[in-house]
Amino acid sequence: MFVELLDIIKNRRSIRKYYKEDIPTEDLYKILEAARWAPSAGNLQPWEFIIIKNDTIKEKIASAAYGQYWITEAPIIIIACSDIYRTASVYGRRGKDLYCIQDVAAAIQNILLMAHYMGYGTCWVGAFNEEEISSILSLPEHVRPLAIIPIGKPREKPAPRKRRPLHDIIHYEKW
Ligand SMILES: Cc1cc2nc3c(=O)[nH]c(=O)nc-3n(C[C@H](O)[C@H](O)[C@H](O)COP(=O)(O)O)c2cc1C
Repeated sequence: MFVELLDIIKNRRSIRKYYKEDIPTEDLYKILEAARWAPSAGNLQPWEFIIIKNDTIKEKIASAAYGQYWITEAPIIIIACSDIYRTASVYGRRGKDLYCIQDVAAAIQNILLMAHYMGYGTCWVGAFNEEEISSILSLPEHVRPLAIIPIGKPREKPAPRKRRPLHDIIHYEKW
């Protein structure tokens, strides 16, 4: 059981080339169902997801992502957002600056893993002009876009990228 999950985690790659074929809504909802079950501070669940299928909007998103036009190849792009009010209303500054970002990051990782498990490729795209994305999507002030996630059947099989060895990242008892 543990080994299987570790295999899924280890075999996920960032995919930047996709087949155009559409993603059935049941599959998309299954992937978002995984997002919904992420942990969140106080179980406040600040995540909001914008689904983009329209080619013109995809182009605008890619332009706001500093010209990462490869994302327009994906049949669906999910924009993972955080509703800052939800967490800040309970946890104040720490909620606004930290929890609402961590919560959505956990949901994003669930999306990447579930999609991979189901045979889809994704990439967590974080390099974008936040104001431009907010304006393209008409996001309210209190909703912050945190990631662009293109999803589609993978049209490439990249080699795994290096990871720092375990002994480098583990600290016992103190730094
Ligand atoms: C917060 C964050 C931002 C990222 N932004 C981008 C991005 O803007 N464009 C891109 O092509 N990949 C982006 N990536 C993907 C990373 O480059 C990728 O995860 C890393 O190189 C490891 O490769 P792997 O995902 O295939 O294991 C981002 C990943 C994270 C977690």
